[in-house]
Amino acid sequence: MNSVLITGATSGIGKALVEIYAKNGFKVLAAGRDSTKLANLKEIYPSIQTLNFDVTQLQQTLAAADEVNNIDQLILNAGNCEYMETVTPFDSALFERVIRTNLLSVGYCLEAFLPKLTRSGQIGIVSSSVTYLAFTQSQAYGASKAGLNYLAKSLSVDLANHEIGVSLIQPGFVETPLTDKNTFEMPGKVTAEFAARTIFNGMRAKKHSIKFPTIFINILRLLSILPFRLWRKIAISLVNK
Ligand SMILES: NC(=O)c1ccc[n+]([C@@H]2O[C@H](COP(=O)([O-])OP(=O)(O)OC[C@H]3O[C@@H](n4cnc5c(N)ncnc54)[C@H](OP(=O)(O)O)[C@@H]3O)[C@@H](O)[C@H]2O)c1
Repeated sequence: MNSVLITGATSGIGKALVEIYAKNGFKVLAAGRDSTKLANLKEIYPSIQTLNFDVTQLQQTLAAADEVNNIDQLILNAGNCEYMETVTPFDSALFERVIRTNLLSVGYCLEAFLPKLTRSGQIGIVSSSVTYLAFTQSQAYGASKAGLNYLAKSLSVDLANHEIGVSLIQPGFVETPLTDKNTFEMPGKVTAEFAARTIFNGMRAKKHSIKFPTIFINILRLLSILPFRLWRKIAISLVNK
């Protein structure tokens, strides 16, 4: 039986991934930091194995790996989004918190779980489409996800000889508790189920890059070709609207 370990499995995209992988006969190892949410998940999907750890804590993450045998897929999805209300003064505590949750945690998970991946296994790293362009208030979130983009691609080079693939996953807006907090318009927003299905298929096809939804991503890609001074003007005018 194929197996997958998913971090951030207690909510949003991660929870929808648990559902699609379980329905497709995978042994699912669902990781989360909240034991009550994990117990609820186990009630819905009795066949899953749950792993209770905080991804920002290296020792907890390493200890969780002791409970894991071989896995075929590893999806590093846990993350959080906090926007910076102002950059003067610059909230370095928020910056550190977001970088720790979204970027450093992935390093901890790789140290813990990479040795558990079978040959020809696949790693999925959940970044974001935010990295195509510089957006207002996104200094911490955008920097953390841009770091993941580089990490995923560089990892993909060095894991090639181990026959392990890396999928860089860049969702647009997805309807989850994370985006429920947003008060701005979210063009092209898709459901968590759509996101999970697209990630599942992309991981199965061992794609280097999984991005969705297509139209939204293509618009971002087009805008990202603009000279930065032009995009900066557009971004400033959107802020001042
Ligand atoms: N939703 C979007 O539009 C969107 C777009 C692009 C990228 N993404 C990325 O997709 C991923 C999943 O986001 P989502 O929208 O599904 O958000 P979500 O519903 O808030 O789920 C985030 C998951 O990460 C877990 N998590 C957060 N901090 C953790 C920690 N320190 N230790 C362990 N688990 C932790 C959460 O656990 P708790 O349940 O305990 O909080 C939750 O299970 C994130 O990396 C996010 O940046 C989302």
